[in-house]
Amino acid sequence: MTASNFTWEYAPAPEAKDHAKIKKQYDLFINGQFVKPQSKKYFETINPANEEVLAQVAEANEKDVNAAVTAAKTAYDKYWKKLSGAERAKYIFRIARVIQERSRELAVIESLNGGKAIRESRDFDIPTAANHFFYYAGWADKLEYAFPNRTPQSLGVAAQIIPWNFPLLMAAWKIAPALATGNTVVLKPAESTPLTALKLAEIIQDCDLPPGVVNIITGFGNTGAAMVNHPQVNKIAFTGSTDVGKIIQKAIAGTDKKLTLELGGKAANIVFEDAPINQAVEGIVNGIFFNQGHVCCAGSRLFVQEGVADEVISKLKARMDTLIVGDPLDKNTDIGAINSKEQLEKIKSYLKIGVNEGLEIFQSDACALPKKGFFCKPTLFIGAAQSNRVVQEEIFGPVLTIQTFRTIEEVIEKANNIPYGLSAGVWTDKGSKIFNLTSKMRAGVVWANTYNKFDPTSPFGGYKESGFGREGGLHGLMPYVKF
Ligand code: NAI
Ligand code: MG
Repeated sequence: MTASNFTWEYAPAPEAKDHAKIKKQYDLFINGQFVKPQSKKYFETINPANEEVLAQVAEANEKDVNAAVTAAKTAYDKYWKKLSGAERAKYIFRIARVIQERSRELAVIESLNGGKAIRESRDFDIPTAANHFFYYAGWADKLEYAFPNRTPQSLGVAAQIIPWNFPLLMAAWKIAPALATGNTVVLKPAESTPLTALKLAEIIQDCDLPPGVVNIITGFGNTGAAMVNHPQVNKIAFTGSTDVGKIIQKAIAGTDKKLTLELGGKAANIVFEDAPINQAVEGIVNGIFFNQGHVCCAGSRLFVQEGVADEVISKLKARMDTLIVGDPLDKNTDIGAINSKEQLEKIKSYLKIGVNEGLEIFQSDACALPKKGFFCKPTLFIGAAQSNRVVQEEIFGPVLTIQTFRTIEEVIEKANNIPYGLSAGVWTDKGSKIFNLTSKMRAGVVWANTYNKFDPTSPFGGYKESGFGREGGLHGLMPYVKF
């Protein structure tokens, strides 16, 4: 796992995992209790870095979903909707503080179950999850300031379905604004990463939330579909694939259920000749390789202005020689495990597609992969064109396509010519170029001279097939209220 052209080698620096308590079996968290599934079924959840089983997790069927939604509805009618904002805030602050207190344990479990490098889960996922609860706790008693001269009312029961790339953080994004605005929740984590959501259920129990205000149930797509179709659900929030987003939209057509969708992306990361090149190279690496490229807003399409293309590509290759792929729990690791076997197969199929499309492929020789587990080398496709499938389709792995451009008009046209519109990045010394570009990009978020930066106060969401509705910030309250 060491680069041959290194002048030194890193000794392993594994994060301790003894303090991470994982039970052998997890039941469903319904009405404030862990209850056995009526389905009587459990499934295995594994560590994608070594394929070892971590726990057995309950698989909720339609009856279980009904129990969870009924608990959420009862809790809503009986007390949550009647509680003052200040009282709701106390509970949400409590959750935030306990996440902070238990952040080490949560980070280790996030890396064990999801495969992401401990540096990411420790320094980004878990602190940002706590911050989302803090931020929305602050809004709970100030909703009349969020919506001046209007009277915001809660919706009822929110069904929230989340993916595997940021398991605890996505749960926080969904649960915090829902509770702050007075709704109750049924949340389902992804089948491959249920453990931190179940830990959150334990935290919610410790925080003495009124039973039924938050219910956390586990299962596959069928469980999610049963949540979407339940008649007592008032609001659906989904993050995941565009395909499932479309299924959900069809399923609720003609009902008065409210919906927000946060789907895929294929972000353009644009480097102009006057950009700070070293900083840009670091931003490119951060944008697509860290987190194994399992990021909906990953900077997966690089556009480099012709004059600096050679320099950027050679510096990028040199930087890739130093990236460490391996044990997610090692503090030196840059790139952890791919989340699942299916996802690794999907990425590998795109590597073949790119090669068959005639593109030049680059993977560092210095980068070695562990023998066990699901791992993928960071990869470049050089000389890509708009028509290539690897340029048009979401890969959701550490794979970067590189295109060159001459003028700002050309790059805006190419960057926008895609079914997605979630995010983008621009690297230049000139402020006027940044404003020119950001105003013409059809992307929900545009980062300038940085990439993948998040803050609970700042809204996030997409255009076109990337979905609709905003999460985060003041805007993130909107999908959970009516007037
Ligand atoms: P997925 O969309 O199938 O799964 C996301 C969540 O939806 C999971 O909790 C899953 O159990 C649930 N789900 C699945 N089918 C459902 C249905 N019919 N009704 C309700 N809920 C349902 O995503 P998957 O299969 O894990 O990944 C496939 C691709 O989707 C990835 O390769 C990637 O391209 C994209 N993706 C995008 C994400 C994003 O952040 N926008 C996150 C995860 C995946
Ligand atoms: Mg799927």
